[in-house]
Amino acid sequence: MAPAIFVFDAYGTLFDVHAAVRRHAEAVGPDAERLSAHWRAKQLEYSWVRSMMGRYLDFWTLTEQALEHAFLSFPTADSSMKPTLLEAYRTLDCYPEVPRALKQLKAEGKALAILSNGSPGMLASAVSAAGLDGLFDEVLSVDELRAYKTDERVYELVATRFRVYPEAVSFQSSNRWDIAGATAFGFRTVWINRAGAADEYHDLPPVAELPDLAGLTRL
Ligand code: LAC
Repeated sequence: MAPAIFVFDAYGTLFDVHAAVRRHAEAVGPDAERLSAHWRAKQLEYSWVRSMMGRYLDFWTLTEQALEHAFLSFPTADSSMKPTLLEAYRTLDCYPEVPRALKQLKAEGKALAILSNGSPGMLASAVSAAGLDGLFDEVLSVDELRAYKTDERVYELVATRFRVYPEAVSFQSSNRWDIAGATAFGFRTVWINRAGAADEYHDLPPVAELPDLAGLTRL
């Protein structure tokens, strides 16, 4: 049976996490791209480590702390840009095919949701800034659990909110580790491999792999 509910990871899947630095690349300096990659890597590392320790801090705080570390790691980057980059992170661009793909699914009668590590405030502002208001039936944040992906309770939020079994849900993420977590929980998973990365977590495979969201309705 075709899934009735399509759930999306937010950062890296709907929203381009590197858009913030890219917008100000010139002002940040020659290490802009590496700073952006470091920022994202540390943000994720902090989420996993804190979740495992049971010492939750919300994702916005982790995003600030990760940027702090990125500036310390790349001294050529102009650290006076910190507030500007954080502000830009609140209003990231979505990837170009996202609005159309979501509207198509909605037109087919699918329920749409976001399931993200992001704190509720930053998610609301990203959805609005990307012009995606009104498209999602639910925007679910891990914040109410005070634990991060890949804790199975995170994926359970969807099943509980929509009162469905996991197999009724198609879960899309560009993060292969997130796909592993969602597959372990029992979702039908689609890896949106935007970066063309090598596969991993071979015992927890997606049912499909796409380069972006465009082909989702044809699966
Ligand atoms: C999220 C992170 C994983 O949106 O990108 O949940």
